[in-house]
Amino acid sequence: MTKSILITGGAGFIGSHCVRHFVKKYPDYPIINFDALTYAGNIESLSDVDNLPNYEFVKGDIRDAELVSSLFDKHNIDSVIHFAAESHVDRSITNPIDFVETNVLGTCTLLNVAKTKWGDNLDNKMFYHISTDEVYGSLGTTGYFVEDTPYDPRSPYSASKASSDHFVRAYHHTYGLPILISNCSNNYGPYQFPEKLIPLMINNIIKEEPLPVYGDGLNIRDWLMVTDHVEAIDVVYHQGKQGETYNIGGNNERTNLDLVHALCDLVDKKLGREEGHSRSLVTFVKDRPGHDRRYAIDAEKIKNDLGWEPRYTVEQGLEETIAWYLENTEWLAHITSGEYQKYYDKQYKS
Ligand code: NAD
Ligand code: TYD
Repeated sequence: MTKSILITGGAGFIGSHCVRHFVKKYPDYPIINFDALTYAGNIESLSDVDNLPNYEFVKGDIRDAELVSSLFDKHNIDSVIHFAAESHVDRSITNPIDFVETNVLGTCTLLNVAKTKWGDNLDNKMFYHISTDEVYGSLGTTGYFVEDTPYDPRSPYSASKASSDHFVRAYHHTYGLPILISNCSNNYGPYQFPEKLIPLMINNIIKEEPLPVYGDGLNIRDWLMVTDHVEAIDVVYHQGKQGETYNIGGNNERTNLDLVHALCDLVDKKLGREEGHSRSLVTFVKDRPGHDRRYAIDAEKIKNDLGWEPRYTVEQGLEETIAWYLENTEWLAHITSGEYQKYYDKQYKS
């Protein structure tokens, strides 16, 4: 059946991969990419699909109920896939209120428009909310996050995402809104803004600049290639059971230091540099306040119920990602100019 999908945050990292995937794979689905184009949104990321007939970009803020309502009317929206968010933990520590505004108020505004516009006509409707494993808190050396692990968010970012997840479930339980939620681990891949660990390190290794590792570098993340994530989203969207939550992980736990070393070695090899050259750029810097120690996803539910598993090992994914950043220096140059440069200097040079 044809679906008319409003994808919020489709100019951001994961959203742009999702838009590309849906627009190309489902030419019968009208896809509306709705994005405010904050510092993290870059419409250049979708230049390869922007003239396809089933794709339209609309610039706007998810808190603008009037504009969102008009899009529901104009395009007969029957699904929302909601990515738009402030997404960087370090920025949430500096400006928590921005995270409440976008992640909490923005999500509630979308939910309310969907509820109002869809009314009692809920056949074939879906509000799919994209969330994070960070809502579950921080693990010790053992254990995994499962779908019913109690929420224990510890940064302003994860607190705002947890709050938005609660509102999505509340709209389901109170008003019967059809919803899906997926909570995923750390994504990486092409088109990621270089404030996040992997693209920041690749960019600095290429430029032979210091590699700022927080604390002792032994924090652990579970790395998920963004294209694997988008395939999981496709499966959850089409086959997920209404009202359910699915955890999506990469089965790729690494300490930050191991990961940065792997990036150094791969880039050195690609650029024909001497072995061990870039590892000498690693610089241990002041730890992030409240830095979560370990995240790790148990992705058995999505595997058993929907048959999805990640395809990439982190080594394969990093090779592809590094190759992309080396081939797309123009994209990187455009996005690292201006406002981001000011942020970088404040975060790492003051
Ligand atoms: P991103 O920061 O790259 O992109 C966010 C996008 O949202 C940008 O295009 C931005 O312009 C847009 N946006 C921000 N505020 C907006 C507003 N008020 N109205 C409309 N658009 C707005 O984020 P990402 O890394 O692609 O993450 C996408 C989603 O996935 C987020 O909800 C995030 O919490 C979640 N997530 C991300 C990761 C990860 O590793 N990146 C992991 C788990 C979950
Ligand atoms: P990040 O990409 O910000 O994702 P998240 O905090 O949402 O997991 O960071 C991933 C890990 O890398 C996290 O443990 C913090 C660490 N980190 C650094 O050591 N140095 C950096 O410059 C950045 C941005 C992150």
